[in-house]
Amino acid sequence: MIYFDNSATTKPDQSVLETFIKASTRFFANPSSLHYPGMEAERFLEKARQQIASLCRVSAEEIIFTGGGTESNNLAIKGAAYFYKNRGRHIITTAIEHPSVFETCRDLEKEGFRITYVKPDANGAIQAADVQQAITDDTILVSVMHVNNETGAIQPVEEIGRMLDAYPQILFHVDAVQGFGKVPLDLLKSGVQLMSVSGHKLHGLKGTGFLYKQRSVNLAPLLSGGGQERGLRSGTEQTAGAASLAKAVRLAMETDMNPVLEITRWIYKELAGRPDFVIHTPISQAAPHILSVSIKGTKGEVLVHALEKKNIIVSTTSACSSKQAKPSRVLQKMGVNNDLAAAAIRISLSAGNTIQEAEQFIEALDRIVPTLVKKRNERI
Ligand SMILES: Cc1ncc(COP(=O)(O)O)c(C=O)c1O
Repeated sequence: MIYFDNSATTKPDQSVLETFIKASTRFFANPSSLHYPGMEAERFLEKARQQIASLCRVSAEEIIFTGGGTESNNLAIKGAAYFYKNRGRHIITTAIEHPSVFETCRDLEKEGFRITYVKPDANGAIQAADVQQAITDDTILVSVMHVNNETGAIQPVEEIGRMLDAYPQILFHVDAVQGFGKVPLDLLKSGVQLMSVSGHKLHGLKGTGFLYKQRSVNLAPLLSGGGQERGLRSGTEQTAGAASLAKAVRLAMETDMNPVLEITRWIYKELAGRPDFVIHTPISQAAPHILSVSIKGTKGEVLVHALEKKNIIVSTTSACSSKQAKPSRVLQKMGVNNDLAAAAIRISLSAGNTIQEAEQFIEALDRIVPTLVKKRNERI
């Protein structure tokens, strides 16, 4: 199988699985328990937290373990909205966020918060000036993703962070789920105060993730319970998951993404020259692993299944929306028309992919696409 759907999820690294099994076997006690196995489990959990914090160059107390990207985004946005609601009720986000941010903001709208959804340009990039223009006296939070999960477009997080320096009352959250470990982001230089990360996008395990929360920021917890994770995430800690996440984060940071970028650029060059192909990824301003492309007059899902028959796995737009019949909201907001948006497929690589796989992918497309285009022309 040629697996080009790494933005949906990655295959767990063998060493991550081994860490999980070893930790589950040895440190299975409840880290909140008073007895010595409990205390050992707690020390082990704190070691994982410290490892992640050192890799991110922040303090251990600023890492909150969560169940993944969706939970981190919910905790950051709803947690900030509820805690700071007396300061203001306006939030700025973008029209191209992942549903775990977009729908969270929609929920807050129903609760009386006002949300501005800043639109991207035709390349899928948000402009810092547009974010600044949306600021009002009532703004409490700006939430912008680092890398778009459908197009790979890198957002100007550092520029937005610098701009927000002038507004100390506004918190800055970044959904770094697609960019973390792949596109450098200096947390301290970029003024990011809240950052969401998910383990399963980094060859870690599903159900693992963390939220970086700068020490000075307060959040209202979303879960009531035993008060674990400094009161912000009640529930018995996932000790082995945390250790596996620390391993995955370290591996991600050690991985050279240049070979991935070379393969993505090679595919881009192959496709860019072809009639009927429209590429949505702004290649010089994109993450190394994502390429979004449409073949005019076809349907993304038809191409996905045709490639699947050749054992090549890609997705339509994002995994969450790929089972919905609607064209991609992200592409529509970039000004892509509905037909072209419904034709999009996303190719997403990881460090395990090879140029030979990319060549086989292009060969398969060359066999599949003429049939699809012929069928399209017959329909017209
Ligand atoms: C940009 C982005 N944010 C958040 C998420 C949600 O992460 P998780 O699957 O860990 O909940 C995803 C997953 O696709 C994503 O791509």
